[in-house]
Amino acid sequence: MTLRISVIGTNYLGANTAAGMAEFGFEVIGVEINESRVKLLNEGKAPLYEPGLDPLLKKHTDSGRLRFTTDYREIADWADVHFICVGTPQSDGDYAADLSQVDSVVEMLAPHLTKPTLVVGRSTVPVGTAARLHERFRAESPAGDGVDLAWQPEFLREAHGVDDTLHPDRLVFGVASEAAEQRLREVFATPIAEGSPVVVSNRETAELVKGAANAFLATKISFINALAEMCDVTGADVSELADALGFDNRIGRGMLNAGPGYGGGCLPKDLRSFMARAGELGVEEIITFLRAVDEINRRRRSRIIDVAHELVGADWAGRKVAVLGAAFKAGTDDVRSSPALDIAGRIQLHGATVTVYDPQATENARRVRPTLNYASSATQACEGAHVVLHLTEWPEFRELDPAELKTVVSNPVIVDGRLLLDAEAWRAAGWIYRAPGKP
Ligand code: UGA
Repeated sequence: MTLRISVIGTNYLGANTAAGMAEFGFEVIGVEINESRVKLLNEGKAPLYEPGLDPLLKKHTDSGRLRFTTDYREIADWADVHFICVGTPQSDGDYAADLSQVDSVVEMLAPHLTKPTLVVGRSTVPVGTAARLHERFRAESPAGDGVDLAWQPEFLREAHGVDDTLHPDRLVFGVASEAAEQRLREVFATPIAEGSPVVVSNRETAELVKGAANAFLATKISFINALAEMCDVTGADVSELADALGFDNRIGRGMLNAGPGYGGGCLPKDLRSFMARAGELGVEEIITFLRAVDEINRRRRSRIIDVAHELVGADWAGRKVAVLGAAFKAGTDDVRSSPALDIAGRIQLHGATVTVYDPQATENARRVRPTLNYASSATQACEGAHVVLHLTEWPEFRELDPAELKTVVSNPVIVDGRLLLDAEAWRAAGWIYRAPGKP
């Protein structure tokens, strides 16, 4: 019989998981408390911009294999496996993760579980959460000890979510029973047959893998960003340095692009949650080291503002600034912890008039920073600008014609925060071009 899967929480992770499970051939119901989002999803529309996700949702809402509901009672005894995919944001005023959404899943689901079932957590949580939730499910479900709980962290990158769901680079099954491992092998039979490696571990290891992976990626980015400053004072080129380092297989070129620092809904908050948990567990040394990673990241934003200020000269007041990009990276409309938007907001606080352009994220950016100006094209954002800042790596910014753009700005000055524009072409067109980390 076809496995029945429920996916609880349908934001970025849940929408990808639900669509992916349907593509693997299972019957899927996504559960979501937000009614308007359920309506949208049932029409095959994702609640966010993610390349390839809408067509996959549509394919399976049309095929009848996938639907969405607000009703936990519908899924409780219907599903063979329940995936928890709700958010675990940073707590207000605290580095720890806010687990209220995960706990509310237990409250909503547990009272309806009357037969043996497997619950699988995919959300990013501090180590120790799975064991605690399992106790709660046992205590609060009529099925009692019949509820098993596993942790199976996800490693999806925004803008590549569909591909990473269907073809994961690894699968980590954190289990407390043989039966849970077998069930997970059944669920992920397609990618396993394709060659995705499987690591089976206890739940604590699986929880730590996710936090550790993001902490390591953040460390790599901060490492290269720290070196960008070394490059600035020595005349070296951080991009060439990264290329040379990357040829060493032990290092690898990935996550070595210097820029405005890491942002998004994952790396910043996961690093902090990791630090908070290490503190709770009494391993303070880890905090010292990761705090440096976080500080370098913040410093990078200030560095870009300082370089722009130096080029503008005098005071920010009365100056016009064009910011190219609002999303935390290209390929998404996500502006959570976006370096671009943070830099734009801080320059505005200094008294400049800041106009932002982003091909996808304007609506989200406007919600978060309503006082910034928003343009509908890069050229419009640059009109009358005294300095242009390139802060999100959308391909269309690399296709801008420097000669044409020069005719609309007040001063042809550009700070390439992503280090990706063609320096020679911009300089040849008469621009002052600066990319922190490059000579
Ligand atoms: C990240 C991880 O890469 C995923 O493996 C993980 O599953 C996900 O978080 C998660 O926890 O759910 P994501 O947040 O989509 O994925 O973004 P990344 O592509 O990792 O980029 C994170 C930030 O680092 C962005 O602001 C990006 O611009 C920046 N970055 C990335 C750099 O500054 N330099 C680089 O070389 C790479």
